[in-house]
Amino acid sequence: MHMKHKPAINVEATEQPAYPQVRMRRLRSKGWLRDMVQEHHVRASDLIWPAFITEGMNTREPVPSMPGVERLSIDQLLEDIKRAADLDIRAFALFPVTPTEKKTMDGREALNPGNLICRAIQAIKKELPDVGIITDVALDPYTTHGHDGLMNDGKILNDETLEVLCKQSLIQSQAGADIIAPSDMMDGRVGQIRRTLDQNGFNDTAILSYAVKYASCFYGPFRDAVGSSGFLKGDKKTYQMNPANAAEALREVALDIKEGADMVMVKPGLPYLDIIKSVKDTFNVPTFAYQVSGEYAMLRAAAANGWLDYDAALAESLLAFKRAGCDGILSYGAVDYARFLQKP
Ligand code: PBG
Repeated sequence: MHMKHKPAINVEATEQPAYPQVRMRRLRSKGWLRDMVQEHHVRASDLIWPAFITEGMNTREPVPSMPGVERLSIDQLLEDIKRAADLDIRAFALFPVTPTEKKTMDGREALNPGNLICRAIQAIKKELPDVGIITDVALDPYTTHGHDGLMNDGKILNDETLEVLCKQSLIQSQAGADIIAPSDMMDGRVGQIRRTLDQNGFNDTAILSYAVKYASCFYGPFRDAVGSSGFLKGDKKTYQMNPANAAEALREVALDIKEGADMVMVKPGLPYLDIIKSVKDTFNVPTFAYQVSGEYAMLRAAAANGWLDYDAALAESLLAFKRAGCDGILSYGAVDYARFLQKP
């Protein structure tokens, strides 16, 4: 059992002094003192910046439902990663936008070693060998139906999909990915991917499992960004989790750890802080959260109306993840936050 936080003192049941000897405001009275007793911190290096990649050169396409986020061609991506790395952002999660003509029922472009994501990984590793690259394993950017797995008769096939995910993981590792992040929610994929990587000499390629991924409406802007929203038939409720369930999250994490996940993720983030906390308290493994596109869009929309201070709201939300027990956080605001930290 993880016991990072000691049990709270029951003030009434002890001989502890209370008011007026105790004044909780004493330690809040000065800025330096508040900083000195601060329990949690968010460093730039705790953050992972998710980026959208598109074909072409010198291309930056704004994503309307995610103000401040752009789809970047590989050359532009390199520029942005360089700038982010200078602000001490160390790891990047890459998401490709697949041109419509390359989408198929079986998503076979996912297995093309010359596809956009593999070219992006190779370019980054060549120019910026020290940055960490995390790649998404799932078929949704590549399928005409927008689902994460193979589909037959309206059903998402589990075991048939696993084979494809293993091959997808392998070509991403061969291209140079450091961390494979399966986001598909098929049963058994972590174990099979681990075996495939090990059999092919990629023992040091880590797995960050999207262990607890809910069927959430907060992914809407992401699907706009990767251009899968117009394609998605139905919903993902037969494989992503029901937002009403908490105990089930712990079963998912237990299975993924057993199958060899090095790190686990909860997604979405802020609406699921209770889940993050119980995952961390129960398993004490490296725990990540994804502050997803809809969460980012809410912050940006409120700020655009003058209703919230974007930097302050972003910083406070990132702190909440740390308080709940996160080691790292994927956030579209990662670079904004890192820049904000450097302000005097
Ligand atoms: C797809 C994937 C999704 C996200 C990350 N990987 C969307 C989905 O499951 O439909 C969402 C991320 C976000 O909303 O920012 N496998």
